[in-house]
Amino acid sequence: MARRVRLVSVLAAALAAAGLASAQALAPISLPAPMMDGGKPLMSTLKARASTREFSADPLPPQTISNLLWAAWGINRPDGRRTAPSASNRQEIDIYVTIPGGAYLWDAKANVLNPVAPGDHRAATGTQPFPAAAALNLVYVADMAKLNRPATDPQQMLNVGADAGFIAENVYLFCASEGLATVVRASVAKETLAKILQLRDTQVIVLAQTVGFPKK
Ligand SMILES: Cc1cc2nc3c(=O)[nH]c(=O)nc-3n(C[C@H](O)[C@H](O)[C@H](O)COP(=O)(O)O)c2cc1C
Repeated sequence: MARRVRLVSVLAAALAAAGLASAQALAPISLPAPMMDGGKPLMSTLKARASTREFSADPLPPQTISNLLWAAWGINRPDGRRTAPSASNRQEIDIYVTIPGGAYLWDAKANVLNPVAPGDHRAATGTQPFPAAAALNLVYVADMAKLNRPATDPQQMLNVGADAGFIAENVYLFCASEGLATVVRASVAKETLAKILQLRDTQVIVLAQTVGFPKK
């Protein structure tokens, strides 16, 4: 019996190390309702928009994460449409979130981070050193099965890139307004990350974006 328990925990540790441990080891994170008012005036925000690659490791408060995700790709109308446009309103982009404790998939309707993989997967969201040290990384993943034309149509990839780009710009503007640091990134360890996030064959990683407090 003791040997079996030991074997199970060795296996669990190996899976965790590979980023493949069961998501059930993590609890969902219910975020507070987003605050949809406030922020700097638009022109001042645009003046401050910039890419930053130096981050403090301090965690972002849950309220800030909620506000950030709502600004990025939240539902802003009763019919379910969002803060960013999407081609034919296909809403094919999902936002995955990596924080030190694990990787999560954001459910915009419930405003909950649903566990995908326990463990610290921040480094796997990039090929540069800073994603590993920042509070949070967002990963924009398109589900090509949600589109209205074959995934092989080159226009589809252009639309998907544009749709993720709008979300990224919303994040840039939110960060500029809140004094947070951010940079959007095409440099992503896509194969490794797709495995960690347990993506389906129809899902494509488009961009990642690091967010955190600026380095003091
Ligand atoms: C589609 C796209 C991909 C990018 N990929 C990376 C990246 O992988 N790593 C990085 O450090 N910056 C990346 N950037 C940020 C650009 O380098 C940055 O926007 C550019 O240097 C202009 O700086 P600014 O954003 O401060 O105006 C990317 C930007 C875009 C729009």
